[in-house]
Amino acid sequence: MSATKLNDAAIFHRQKAWVVVRRGKPRVALVLDENAAVPSDLAEGEVLIKVQAAALNPVGYKLMGILPNFIAKRPHVAEHDFTGIIADANGTDLATGQAVWGFVPVGLKIGTGQGSLVQYTRVPTSHIVLRSPSLKPSEAAGLGLVGLTACEALVHIGKLEEGQSLFINGGSTAVGIVAIQLAKAIGAKVTVTGSSKREEFLRSLGVDAFVDYTKAPVYEQLERDPPTPKFHLIFDAVGDANVPLYTQSPAYLQPNGLYLAVAPWPTSTLGSIMNFAWLTWEVNRPLWLGGTPRQWRKLPVMTVKKEKLEELARYVDEGKVKPIVDSVFKFEDALAAYDRIMSQRALGKVVVKVDPEVD
Ligand SMILES: NC(=O)c1ccc[n+]([C@@H]2O[C@H](COP(=O)([O-])OP(=O)(O)OC[C@H]3O[C@@H](n4cnc5c(N)ncnc54)[C@H](OP(=O)(O)O)[C@@H]3O)[C@@H](O)[C@H]2O)c1
Repeated sequence: MSATKLNDAAIFHRQKAWVVVRRGKPRVALVLDENAAVPSDLAEGEVLIKVQAAALNPVGYKLMGILPNFIAKRPHVAEHDFTGIIADANGTDLATGQAVWGFVPVGLKIGTGQGSLVQYTRVPTSHIVLRSPSLKPSEAAGLGLVGLTACEALVHIGKLEEGQSLFINGGSTAVGIVAIQLAKAIGAKVTVTGSSKREEFLRSLGVDAFVDYTKAPVYEQLERDPPTPKFHLIFDAVGDANVPLYTQSPAYLQPNGLYLAVAPWPTSTLGSIMNFAWLTWEVNRPLWLGGTPRQWRKLPVMTVKKEKLEELARYVDEGKVKPIVDSVFKFEDALAAYDRIMSQRALGKVVVKVDPEVD
């Protein structure tokens, strides 16, 4: 890529970045820095990426609201998921000008201050894969975190097999949408929860059975009409602590089945803290004290391994996992994008175009 194409930011070494400067909600914690430094100190194995689009994830605003500065090591650039063009291949086996997508994990962000809501970011080559020409930047931007999460849950931890039966709580979450597509690619039977307005969309992804979570508690609906055979795997992709869905699971989860939860984190409300404490008790309660005779596990916060990113990219490039985009915002409107994802009503990824000229 020529110097002209890198645009003024790289030439003058200054760029625009959404920077997390303090703990709080996005409107309090984030500042648009129009004079941030373009990274110039690439380590061996790192490349400089001209970011075209970034996508938001709940982990972004959750950590913004929870972690104190001394742990989060603020200021740092916001967000994790991105797609863009290699601006400096830095002697790696990649080439300047190649289109890629990838993910900046939480640990790397805390270590380097880098994120994805920025014009230029630096990442190790293990954190990116080549972008197929069939993907628009707005589609590729949000694949990383939700894709790695769904793959880790179903393939690596859940070990879902063809012919098995999967229950996804939260089929219309961005994680759930990828999980449904992966499960169908594996050949599993998939039951999901969603609100009725999402049923047609979820069935279009191949969902076999649908439970409307707004009608009655999900565990009650499953107890009333349990699947035959019972589920092999329950993947809870909503992210709150749904205690009865776990404690009642012997009615609809096989004895050797696994209840895998994406991320029940407490918020600062008393109700959420109490619920989290209740969940902690129930998942640790021994059987002889009336504990639930089913295994419960929580997914760890995602890191990146090159082979896992490449595995996900194969599903995407073969058309087995299609990106679903809820909305696309201008870079300057990132705070409105946060409002959208925090509404918890998005259907697919909330994307921020960093380069206004891309699709
Ligand atoms: N462990 C990790 O590394 C990791 C990685 C990624 C995500 N996560 C966690 O996974 C969770 C989901 O993230 P996401 O980005 O996929 O969320 P999201 O896309 O923002 O979720 C929004 C969707 O959730 C649906 N929804 C809301 N409440 C629901 C409920 N009670 N039951 C069923 N569906 C419900 C909404 O549908 P309606 O509008 O129809 O209600 C909406 O379509 C979050 O808690 C996130 O922190 C963890």
